[in-house]
Amino acid sequence: MSEGNVFVFDHPLIQHKVSLLRDKNTGTKEFRELVSEIAMLMAYEVTRDLPLKDVDIETPVATAHTKMLAGKPIAIVPILRAGLGMVDGMVKLIPNVKVGHVGLYRDPVTVEPHTYYCKLPEDINERDVILLDPMLATGGSASAAIGYLKEKGIHNIKFMCLIAAPEGIERITTDHPDIHIYCAAKDERLNDHSYIVPGLGDAGDRIFGTN
Ligand code: PRP
Ligand code: URA
Repeated sequence: MSEGNVFVFDHPLIQHKVSLLRDKNTGTKEFRELVSEIAMLMAYEVTRDLPLKDVDIETPVATAHTKMLAGKPIAIVPILRAGLGMVDGMVKLIPNVKVGHVGLYRDPVTVEPHTYYCKLPEDINERDVILLDPMLATGGSASAAIGYLKEKGIHNIKFMCLIAAPEGIERITTDHPDIHIYCAAKDERLNDHSYIVPGLGDAGDRIFGTN
């Protein structure tokens, strides 16, 4: 389902796995596996528009006039920490991706994002970039990460998250109207602590078993 630049994946497998992810009784091991599996299923859809070229392949029987990927290679950039949980699933589907990292944390009081680390592949400007973070809450972290990538001259960016709040979607579409957002679920709202309602809690803590 798409609305403007926002795509919400309504595939039954994705919806089922997101429901398991939300459950407060889902433990760290299963949570990690689910994040990875959902990212892999989403990667399938996010890459749907990749360009193809015609190729001839010699099968044991005859020449097959068929297609292979033709466009720019891809880089994925997880926002640390929680975005790391999505890397494995993406790499399973797109094994040749290069992986950059942007380290951001949201100040628990001001909810402003702070950048503490960044390492990108040298040839990232020649690649299409998929930015990863399970949670789009106020949108401050994703907006800062997108702004950072744009400052580095990277403009072909897709943002992929698991759960998006309307407030975060509004922030990204205002700050970066050129960016397409892909999410597995669009939730109701943020609470007084800027947590997504109903959401799934703190994604980083649940992936890494902290707190
Ligand atoms: C979480 C999440 C996003 C951010 C979303 O990270 O993974 O990066 O919050 O919130 P926002 O849209 O309001 O900016 P957090 O800052 O908790 O860091 P962590 O991944 O290291 O736990
Ligand atoms: N970060 C999270 O991990 N969860 C939220 O609900 C909001 C920000």
